[in-house]
Amino acid sequence: MNAPAETPLSEATVRFLAQPKKMLIGAEWRDALSGRTLESRNPATGDVIATFPAAAAADVDLAVQAARAAFSGKEWGKARPIDRERWLLRLADRVEANAQELAEIETLDNGKPLMFARRVDVQQAVDFLRYVAGWCTKIEGSTLTPSVPALRKNEYFAYTLREPVGVVGAIIPWNFPLLIAVWKIAPALATGCTIVLKPAEETSLAALRLAELVLEAGIPAGVVNVVTGLGHEAGAALAAHRGIDKVTFTGSTEVGKRIGKAAMDNMTRVSLELGGKSPVIMFDDVDVKSAAAGAANAIFFNSGQVCAAGSRLYVHKRVFDQVLEGVVAVANKMRVGPGLDPGSQIGPLVSAKQLQRVTGYIRKGVEEGGSLLAGSAESADKGYFIKPTVVTGLGEQATLIQEEIFGPVLVATPFDDIDEIAAAANATPYGLAASIWSNDLSRVHRLIPRIQAGTVWVNCHGVLDNAMPFGGYKQSGIGREMGRSMIDLFTETKSVMMQL
Ligand code: NAI
Ligand code: MG
Repeated sequence: MNAPAETPLSEATVRFLAQPKKMLIGAEWRDALSGRTLESRNPATGDVIATFPAAAAADVDLAVQAARAAFSGKEWGKARPIDRERWLLRLADRVEANAQELAEIETLDNGKPLMFARRVDVQQAVDFLRYVAGWCTKIEGSTLTPSVPALRKNEYFAYTLREPVGVVGAIIPWNFPLLIAVWKIAPALATGCTIVLKPAEETSLAALRLAELVLEAGIPAGVVNVVTGLGHEAGAALAAHRGIDKVTFTGSTEVGKRIGKAAMDNMTRVSLELGGKSPVIMFDDVDVKSAAAGAANAIFFNSGQVCAAGSRLYVHKRVFDQVLEGVVAVANKMRVGPGLDPGSQIGPLVSAKQLQRVTGYIRKGVEEGGSLLAGSAESADKGYFIKPTVVTGLGEQATLIQEEIFGPVLVATPFDDIDEIAAAANATPYGLAASIWSNDLSRVHRLIPRIQAGTVWVNCHGVLDNAMPFGGYKQSGIGREMGRSMIDLFTETKSVMMQL
């Protein structure tokens, strides 16, 4: 790699990086009670850019207490829906006003190209806050006409209430640190809950900056608390805490299961947004060039560190070679480099650990008989960079077809008919998403119901919308975030039966 021309950091980012990082618990900025800290690294260089508190169970306990006090407190408890809407809109304004700084923080901490941090992560966070703000005033129950057994000779009237579930514990990953923080905080606040957020240890900075903006927006102290720390310490303590009423998690299926079990012991409500191994299915009528570009984008965006990444490419055998040739050409042309270099299309992976994991998978693919058509298991000397990689020639049971890699690694396989592809699409433990590429409507519509996935895209991949429910079948999770269904995840339903 040549020495990159990097965008200089804005003054605001330089100032934020220089200031000591503390957790927001209630109205206070605190160090961990133990005084321990963790280091945040820039994935483009491996250099430490900040240290931040390493919370343990005692810190988490303080945060849960603060969230409980705010939940029961007058200011938040008595706030009208329209007051909550105003707070969320103000937070959206604060995020928007600090968009450049937040994007730079995201690029430094996660590695992603600045353009994506700005136009995807931060912009989506702003849009989502505004979208969810509108829900505050639109949460409603229903009125029913009961059919109580005739031997009760009375008249009845019945209705349902939606009530906030209470104190929410949120544990989030490192691939879209700011955006996923907002995906948890916004619906919690819209429904009248309070929240303790634990960001990923790889990328905690954006959540800490967001916490400052929460206070600037005038949101009452204790409504949003941010504790930073390791998963098996701070995360595990939060998931198992008896003082939380709901846990919402995004991350690996393995950790999701552990969190689900811990929550169940307290009957804490759980929603889980987990991993995926999403198929991209291309029929023989596709336009080869745009299909190849679509397939490349489905896997290489965000260096493949996307839960819904299209990591398995299935192309009809009649056009397999041509589409694959196109994908390989795109992969070889993509510019891998630091997120602050405006020419970079793919940034580094998030961490040395993730780099090891992904290159380990590539080696495994070769061991199991796969051919590398693009990329390799080699990484750069400095920074966690890896080339977009395309593998073929693997069977259905191959590790690279079955397991989530979470890196820019595509496995391509030809198929022949619709029965074969329906079976192949479903032949992993996951069921998060899929895409079908064809303009043959009847073929597309016949396939959609046969795919076990929470989202099916047609002639596109990875397109999320604030109003569209998002979540997984099978081992990809429990519950649907976004849209109307997010309200269900953050509320309890109370049935009221009244004798007249
Ligand atoms: P992870 O699932 O361990 O991390 C996600 C979050 O869970 C982090 O905040 C972490 O601190 C927390 N956590 C970890 N262990 C915990 C525990 N025992 N109790 C409570 N919280 C805990 O993911 P990791 O290890 O960073 O990445 C490993 C693989 O997981 C990736 O290669 C990828 O396959 C998958 N992953 C999937 C994501 C998705 O969005 N579907 C996001 C991140 C990772
Ligand atoms: Mg982990």
